[in-house]
Amino acid sequence: MKKNANTFPKNFLWGAATAANQVEGGYNEGGKGLSSFDMVPFYEPEIRKDLDVLTSDISYEQLKEYKQSDKGINFPKRRGTDMYHHYQEDIRYFAEMGFKVYRLSIAWARIFPTGVEKEPNEAGLKFYEAIFDECLKYGIEPLVTMSHYEMPLYLVEKYNGWESHEVIAYFVHYAEVILERYKGKVKYWIPFNEMNMTVFSPYTGAGIFTENIETKNIETAKYQAIHHQFIASAKIKAIAKKTAPNAQIGCMIARLENYPATCAPQDVLSALKDDQLNCFFLDVFARGKYPNYMYRVFAENEVEFEITEEEERLLKENTVDFISFSYYMTYIARFDPTSQRNSGNLVDTEINPYLEKTEWNWTIDPIGLRITLNRLYDRYQLPLFVAENGLGATDQLVAGKVHDDYRISYLKQHIEQIKEAVRDGVDVFGYTVWTAIDLVSCGTNEITKRYGFIYVDVDNYGKGTFKRYKKDSFEWYKRVIASNGEKLE
Ligand code: BG6
Repeated sequence: MKKNANTFPKNFLWGAATAANQVEGGYNEGGKGLSSFDMVPFYEPEIRKDLDVLTSDISYEQLKEYKQSDKGINFPKRRGTDMYHHYQEDIRYFAEMGFKVYRLSIAWARIFPTGVEKEPNEAGLKFYEAIFDECLKYGIEPLVTMSHYEMPLYLVEKYNGWESHEVIAYFVHYAEVILERYKGKVKYWIPFNEMNMTVFSPYTGAGIFTENIETKNIETAKYQAIHHQFIASAKIKAIAKKTAPNAQIGCMIARLENYPATCAPQDVLSALKDDQLNCFFLDVFARGKYPNYMYRVFAENEVEFEITEEEERLLKENTVDFISFSYYMTYIARFDPTSQRNSGNLVDTEINPYLEKTEWNWTIDPIGLRITLNRLYDRYQLPLFVAENGLGATDQLVAGKVHDDYRISYLKQHIEQIKEAVRDGVDVFGYTVWTAIDLVSCGTNEITKRYGFIYVDVDNYGKGTFKRYKKDSFEWYKRVIASNGEKLE
């Protein structure tokens, strides 16, 4: 009788991830144009809570104000942790840990500064080429996100981001250029980071200002933008099949695994509906068509947009090669939501009394990761990649050391559950911890919420040496990779 593997496959892709807008800095160097996230400021939590915008979003009024004068405003994503100038050193550290894969993103505005140029910016292309060469020198496979929550600011202002159909062609042109240029160096591609986040945070996910939408309602604008991103992804897959046949084109969502609050049928139904809203993205990517349950959601929310026959064909013919997702925590579904809620990854949730929480109140639920891996594999039967999983914490640098045993404990428990999922028969081929090195938090724009194996000496205001220090988790992860996930102590 067939037996499931007892542990991680030999060629399992161990590594970690970053995103250009959070790690690079050099926001106006090498010909880069301004991007949507260059305009998101850091405010101390007590000021931010009074602003009328979600997490990493800004309002159109704020954008206008910052464009007139950005003096005195703190934009941490413009400096990241300065990987732009440290990439050789940083990748050397990744190699020392033994990474098999490094998930990074390309900043679209480095390649096409406004997004609408015909010719790419050669300096931008060379920058990523150097990064890929550096990775390959150490046998590290780059896995590339084409757009990790950012786009050229020009497209945001001119087209209200992905709300406009025209942005598809600009993005596909950008994708075509990078696929062609890097086809000998990059195999794994993800067109969009966490595509479902547009539902919760339209500026973050799609460069949309709700004040500027053209359609009748914001729900229509959001799903229109999401539709445009589906079409762009399908076109990219079609191009890759011809020009880079070895490329593997995947998709990504923020996995919002949820549990019904009780066994009351209404709560179970709420959980099912929440799960459908999360799986909707994967259903389109993996099955090549809109699932029927979404037509009811659209009708009930007066969402209206056209899906042409040609688009239906494109989606059908260009499904993804693999599914990737971020996993941080689990959520609770209740028909009649209570007001006692905790913050979460862009989405808040009821408190789960069975789980511990991080300093930022995100629940810690390793078993939820095994549940997710099983559910997604049962549903799609496609290879899975855990593209993000990690712990945001306030690390203390003392005498050049960071003792982050809490991070080791978090990661250890999650890796154990991935191993259990492998034993359950799930086809999971890689795991990239969020993050390889400290960077600016997406949701709060602070550096204080650190995720990396490598500490970077810089504070929320850009003060510091930017010197790199290995945390205790660095040596620990090195052992994990060297033992292919067997030595977790
Ligand atoms: C994911 C994003 O949603 O969560 C990352 O893809 C982000 O960009 C990560 O950094 C953690 O969220 P945060 O807000 O703690 O940085």
